[in-house]
Amino acid sequence: MARARDPRRTVRVSPVGTITRGTTGHNRLRRSDRWVVAVHGGLLRAAERPLVVDLGYGASHTTTLELFTRLRRVAPGVEVVGIEIDPARVAVAKPYEREGLSFRLGGFELPVSRPPTLVRAFNVLRQYGEAEAWHYWDVLRSGLAPDGVLVEGTSSENGRRAIWAGLSPEGPRTITFSARFDAFERPSDLADRLPKTLIHRNVPGERIHAFLSDFDHAWAMSAPYGAHGLKQRWLAAVRVLSTSWPVPMVPPLGGPARWRLGELTLPWSAVDPR
Ligand SMILES: C[S@@+](CC[C@H](N)C(=O)[O-])C[C@H]1O[C@@H](n2cnc3c(N)ncnc32)[C@H](O)[C@@H]1O
Repeated sequence: MARARDPRRTVRVSPVGTITRGTTGHNRLRRSDRWVVAVHGGLLRAAERPLVVDLGYGASHTTTLELFTRLRRVAPGVEVVGIEIDPARVAVAKPYEREGLSFRLGGFELPVSRPPTLVRAFNVLRQYGEAEAWHYWDVLRSGLAPDGVLVEGTSSENGRRAIWAGLSPEGPRTITFSARFDAFERPSDLADRLPKTLIHRNVPGERIHAFLSDFDHAWAMSAPYGAHGLKQRWLAAVRVLSTSWPVPMVPPLGGPARWRLGELTLPWSAVDPR
């Protein structure tokens, strides 16, 4: 005779994903944190109980704590949960919990009590295959609050070069290129930080390749502005690019205040390989 199921039994679901390298570091994600504050600070302030997930925070709690500190300045009610698939890394982070900041075991299924307003996943998907990266974009998007955002990207170890995508529940919306002015010789040097969904598409015939080639060309044309500093050269190059690419020209995504940080955001549709 079949045994009746005990309804009180807890069903344990294994975290979805794979443990990967835990490399991280102080201030590694400062460039994207700054963008999140500027572009999505209003969204976090407007949400009733804003929940932010930092997925795959790595071997230390550092970048999650930095995100928490920066977001609390602009959205005092925000709650941040760091999620890691490696139980040892969760144990290391637990002592740093405080009001509004916690750490827990989990994966792409996002084990949180309500849909997050924002999910940040940095240097996580790069260690998966391209098809998996597209799939987990869909999985993560489907877990967001209705007006929520996924910020998924890759950075160098010291954070001086980074590229990230911004996604709504409906799909990818933006791509942002960000670099310290002395961290590259030409803009296409950033290509090694492309999200997994794009990195294999940086070949002739693909939009992302055309964009980076045009950015290099605009950078070369703007060389004379380098006499006034690399910031002026970047600003000039972005203006050249904006004549042939749909560069947002006004805040929060565009305009000189963003560009002078060594940043450039484009609509995702401009580089979408699909
Ligand atoms: C390279 S570290 C990135 C750390 C930090 N986000 C940063 O950018 O400095 C990647 C981390 O993501 C974790 N990870 C990989 N897949 C994951 C998943 N599906 N869910 C949660 N964490 C995951 C790995 O265990 C690893 O600790």
